[in-house]
Amino acid sequence: MAEPAAILLKIRRRERPDSRPYWQEFSVPAAPNMNIVAALMEIQKNPVDARGRATVPVVWDCNCLEEVCGACTMLINGQARQACSALVETLTQPIVLQPLTKFPVVRDLMVDRQSIFESLKKVRAWIQMDGSHDQGPGPRVSPSLQAWTYELSRCMTCGCCMEACPQVNGRSPFIGPAVLAQVRRFNAHPLGESIRAERLRAVMGPGGITDCGKAQNCERACPKQLPLTRALAELNRETITHGLFGWLSR
Ligand code: SF4
Ligand code: SF4
Ligand code: FES
Repeated sequence: MAEPAAILLKIRRRERPDSRPYWQEFSVPAAPNMNIVAALMEIQKNPVDARGRATVPVVWDCNCLEEVCGACTMLINGQARQACSALVETLTQPIVLQPLTKFPVVRDLMVDRQSIFESLKKVRAWIQMDGSHDQGPGPRVSPSLQAWTYELSRCMTCGCCMEACPQVNGRSPFIGPAVLAQVRRFNAHPLGESIRAERLRAVMGPGGITDCGKAQNCERACPKQLPLTRALAELNRETITHGLFGWLSR
């Protein structure tokens, strides 16, 4: 099939976080193997709309350009995914681009995902180290546990799972599946165990694991295929056991 000479994009724009959104259409020259970032760069080079009127370039975020950082995540034809890995030739036109809806819009397609990073801090999603001196060999970790924690480590905090989750909304303090999965990851690892109880306490209250409605939309939406359903189920069991017997370890 011959490449179309031009690509039609329909973009939901917003100048400031508090200004009214509006739609604008753009026609950009097609190129083989073009992705959405490349199409947006064409608009940046020549900021005129589809009717030839001059406008300001569209703002979006990106960094790694290889589906690792999550920064370029947006709604592409209604689906939350990364602009750097979305090939134009696989998409129905006009290609509709919108910012994610579960995060504050900074401008146009750029959103502020800081809430995910704040939640990761709240649940202490890290290995606590007591100094940088030689602490000897670490604990032995079975291959199956290595494989399991590796799976969860591939999260790129893109927010696709939060976009798909009905429980993540403006009326709920739910921290969402990505952060809960990281709690499970660090609690499962022997090096993360020292502050396991703190992490569990952080997800046992409002906004924590009990706010999950178990619809499993999150796992289907994850571009990295993280096993979120298993992670959330394991974390749920862990919090129940901790609630019943955690006082024994205080
Ligand atoms: S299982 Fe459903 S409610 Fe729970 S985090 Fe995933 S999408 Fe949200
Ligand atoms: S769990 Fe998947 S969808 Fe959610 S933030 Fe991580 S990589 Fe993105
Ligand atoms: S630019 Fe990093 S995921 Fe697309």
